[in-house]
Amino acid sequence: MELLKGKKGIITGVLNDKSIAWYVAKTAVEQGAEIIMTNTALAGRFGQTKALAESLGCPFIEADATSIDDLTRLTDSAMEHFGGKFDFVLHSIGMSPNVRKKHPYNDIDYALMDKTLDISALSFHKMLQTLYKKDALNEWGSIVALTYIAADRAIWGYNDMADAKALLQSITRNFGVIFGSERHVRINTVSQSPTATTAGQGIEGMDRMLQWADSVSPLGNADAQDCANYVCTLFSDFTRKVTMQNLYHDGGFSSTGLTVHPE
Ligand SMILES: NC(=O)c1ccc[n+]([C@@H]2O[C@H](COP(=O)([O-])OP(=O)(O)OC[C@H]3O[C@@H](n4cnc5c(N)ncnc54)[C@H](O)[C@@H]3O)[C@@H](O)[C@H]2O)c1
Repeated sequence: MELLKGKKGIITGVLNDKSIAWYVAKTAVEQGAEIIMTNTALAGRFGQTKALAESLGCPFIEADATSIDDLTRLTDSAMEHFGGKFDFVLHSIGMSPNVRKKHPYNDIDYALMDKTLDISALSFHKMLQTLYKKDALNEWGSIVALTYIAADRAIWGYNDMADAKALLQSITRNFGVIFGSERHVRINTVSQSPTATTAGQGIEGMDRMLQWADSVSPLGNADAQDCANYVCTLFSDFTRKVTMQNLYHDGGFSSTGLTVHPE
């Protein structure tokens, strides 16, 4: 299959070889796409991002997704590298300083919460607005952001990341109207199963959540490779009329009740 033959795009969020974005990057390239990888300077210095980009033969461009200047530079560099507009973008960015510093939801540090919202949700708005102003995407392009079911249901321990993901999903719908009607570009979120990554393992109780979700989901948890395969279908021409959706990719978890399913 060369599902993404001739397509070009930006992949954010590759920190190491466990990152969901790494699986998306690899799979997109296997499916014939040309990509640019981007992450913060810190990730470039201390993560495996640069080495992984090299292994795929694609450029790595530093950009803090909370900085409009960085996002503008990233978009300009991408258009220069690709020789014009491109086709897809993955937003795979999340971080909560409250989670990191173990402030529980009922003892939130609000300055840190501002950072959670900026990094994990507003960065998506900033990215979309930059792409829109630069008219950087080809018609029928596709933008995907990763989210988690804690945006829609109370899941203990996800803390202010739940609020950030709810905002991310709202931005997807509201910018989806503009990008859809004016540019024929689609925007969706993929609500992924708990996955053992650096960001995932920072969440309190995530190991138990991962095991429980796996036991409750009729198909079991979706892993990072499953997620990458699904995201690549959303980048492809087979999903051109899917937009403004929160798409559960969780082995059925989101539709289960408190039932014991047959073995
Ligand atoms: N792991 C899970 O269980 C799970 C489940 C559902 C959704 N998600 C979402 O998937 C996405 C990817 O997370 P992951 O689990 O692969 O973990 P990860 O730690 O590998 O990726 C998170 C990435 O965000 C990047 N990042 C942080 N601040 C940034 C900034 N200011 N600018 C640019 N990049 C920045 C990090 O450098 C890192 O590469 C996140 O949005 C996460 O919330 C994860």
